[in-house]
Amino acid sequence: MNIAIDGPAGAGTSTIAKIIAQKLGFLYIDTGAMYRALTFKVLEEGVDIRNTVEIINLARKTSIDLINNPDGSLKVMLDSKDVSREIREPRITKHVSDIAKIKEVRDVMLTLQRNLGNRGNSILDGRDIGTVVFPNAEKKFYLDAYLGERANRRHKELHGLGQKVSLCSVEADLQNRDTIDSTREVAPLKKADDAVYIDTTNLNIEQVAEKVLTYLK
Ligand code: DC
Repeated sequence: MNIAIDGPAGAGTSTIAKIIAQKLGFLYIDTGAMYRALTFKVLEEGVDIRNTVEIINLARKTSIDLINNPDGSLKVMLDSKDVSREIREPRITKHVSDIAKIKEVRDVMLTLQRNLGNRGNSILDGRDIGTVVFPNAEKKFYLDAYLGERANRRHKELHGLGQKVSLCSVEADLQNRDTIDSTREVAPLKKADDAVYIDTTNLNIEQVAEKVLTYLK
C-alpha cells in the first residue's frame, strides 16, 4: 500500500509522513531528500547549475538510497555516503528547485521513487506523489498552510539546526521555490483530484497527524 502526501515547502509533509510511517510501521520515503542529494552532488562536483546536460549525466550515474533508522529518522545515502545533514544546508535549498525542474532528472527520480515505494507499505512525501509518482496510491493527502506560517516553522527548524538565517530570507526562499515548483512544465506541485486537502495553518503537528490517521482509518 502507498500513501501520498504532497504540499508546498514548509507545509509539514515530511514531519507528518515520518510520524504516520512510525505509527503504521510503513517505510518513509522523503522524495525531496532525493532531489537534495543530487543537488549536493552537482555542487560538490563543481558543475555549473545552468549546465543541464552535465546535470542530467550526473543524475544518470548517481546512486541514491533512503534508509529508515529504527528511531524513525531517515538516512540519505548518496553513492553509499551518508549526506543526511549536508542536504539541509542553505546552498542546497537555494538550488534544488532548479535542478528538480529538469525533465530527465525527474525521469531518473521517478524510477528510483517507484522502486523504493514498491519495497513494501510506504508513505511518500513530495510535490508530485499523488499526481505522477503513485497516481494509484490508496490514500492521498495535500497539506497546505499560509506562507507566513510556513516561513515561521521553517525558520524555527533551521535555527534548531544551528543555521542563523533571517525570517525574511526564509520566506523569500519558500516563495521562490513555490513559484518554481508549481509553475514548472513537468510534474508541477498540484493537489491530486482525489487527495484530502488539509489546511495546517492553525493546527499543530499532533492535530495534523491525528486528522491524517482519522482519514486513514
Ligand atoms: O521537500 P523539500 O523541501 O525537501 O524538497 C526540495 C525540493 O525538491 C522542492 O523545492 C522541489 C523538489 N521536489 C520535487 O520537485 N518533487 C518532489 N516529489 C519532491 C521535491
